Amino acid sequence: MRAILAPSILSADFGRLGQQVKEVSDAGAEYIHIDVMDGMFVPSISFGMPVIKSIRPCTDKVFDVHMMVEEPGRYAEEMKKAGADLLCVHQEACCHLDRTVSQIRELGMMAGVALNPATPVFTLDCILEKVDMVLLMSVNPGFGGQKLIPYTLEKVRQVRERLCVLGLEEKVRIQIDGGVNLENVDKALKAGANVIVAGSAVFGGDAGENVREFLKKMEY
Ligand code: DX5
Ligand code: ZN
Repeated sequence: MRAILAPSILSADFGRLGQQVKEVSDAGAEYIHIDVMDGMFVPSISFGMPVIKSIRPCTDKVFDVHMMVEEPGRYAEEMKKAGADLLCVHQEACCHLDRTVSQIRELGMMAGVALNPATPVFTLDCILEKVDMVLLMSVNPGFGGQKLIPYTLEKVRQVRERLCVLGLEEKVRIQIDGGVNLENVDKALKAGANVIVAGSAVFGGDAGENVREFLKKMEY
């Protein structure tokens, strides 16, 4: 599968969010990574449905919504209405993960499951066949602009291997999120990630130009 870039709007200029979404879309990003935080699962609060709804008309790219929220199933329907295409929930935040994943799929969205850095990959063994994407956090979730934790790359390799064994490598994407930049993106790709989230490395300067630089590196 070809690798996809997913700029995280958490690092965008919220005063001109719509324009920034257009900039990265026009430059070739295929996913828009949208970080929703509830102040419970992670310490910070970001934004929710009204903001997602307001930027929906700015692009037809995939809205990849990363729910850093306790029991995210409570919001699945509202997220679909707001414009989410892919809803990614944390394994650690769902008491009944199978039910939540089924709920997301029944609503017509793609389903992703995320793991914090210290959560082992085997915790997804039972659910891998039911998901469209596995998100491996390469920083502790909650804030943009942190440094990638090196051992998380080994987890990317483990998921890649597991997907190959199960014959799911063409069906399930692997997303890496946190601290990815132009210097280390090749390591993430080599480990087996094929959805690259980048927040500060994209919006920390000329967003369109940064997307083009990433895409050059990702053509492998
Ligand atoms: C962290 C978020 C990330 C974050 C990535 O909790 O899930 O998506 O915005 O930002 P960078 O690329 O700056 O680490
Ligand atoms: Zn994220």
